[in-house]
Amino acid sequence: MADLKSLIIPDKVPQHIAIIMDGNGRWAKEKGMPRVWGHRSGVKSVREVTEAAAEIGVRYLTLYAFSTENWSRPPAEVTALMGLLVETIRGEIKDLNKNGVRLMAIGDLSALPKASYNTLMDGIEATRNNSRVTLVLALNYSAKWEILRATRILAEKAQQGSLHPANIDEQTFESALSTYGIPDPELLIRTSGETRISNFLLWQIAYAELYFTPVFWPDFGREALFEAILNYQGRERRFGKTSEQL
Ligand code: FPP
Repeated sequence: MADLKSLIIPDKVPQHIAIIMDGNGRWAKEKGMPRVWGHRSGVKSVREVTEAAAEIGVRYLTLYAFSTENWSRPPAEVTALMGLLVETIRGEIKDLNKNGVRLMAIGDLSALPKASYNTLMDGIEATRNNSRVTLVLALNYSAKWEILRATRILAEKAQQGSLHPANIDEQTFESALSTYGIPDPELLIRTSGETRISNFLLWQIAYAELYFTPVFWPDFGREALFEAILNYQGRERRFGKTSEQL
């Protein structure tokens, strides 16, 4: 099999990749195992993909770990996912530091169970000086929540008189998003064959290349990531221009 990594063009590696990790439940069901086992196996993919991304120079990796809508799953699954988050962060801090991974989180974090919130904050604090790659976990996140929150922040400033509505441009709006300071993802991956965005980073993916793969998340690893990047590198990104203008 071709060594996919050697085919990647180093100066065309996306700075930011966003991933909708999907298919843990179906992966487990196919094997006659409980859904939670699928999530547990999904953590292995998180580790492998983060390391592979760092290795080829990706600067930001944003993973959709828990959406606002995920609270409506069976309570036992929600509890298991939150437990897995705590267990994973606690267990990975050493390796994150060893690999230069900085942890961040976006979403309505205040609504997370106390233990999850505290562990997350500990992980963010313990890795804040790492700079090789930033792993952004989207937790209790939805893009509509984020856009509404930004709107409220700006409306309050306008009401106080510190911002004139006519001065609200893209930059001002972005300054109120939870991804402020992070470049927009050039590539969005969704696993498991679903071809939806599911309320993920709606503002930030305005120009992202979308890559859908039938592979379930627990089977998505290093090679699958490289394959997605090669696919991305084979595309022409025109940003509204013609081919000849590029
Ligand atoms: C989607 O599969 C997966 C999730 C909603 C959660 C993803 C969580 C992990 C990979 C583990 C925890 C992550 C971290 C970063 C510690 P699904 O359950 O929707 O699968 P299905 O569509 O087949 O039911």
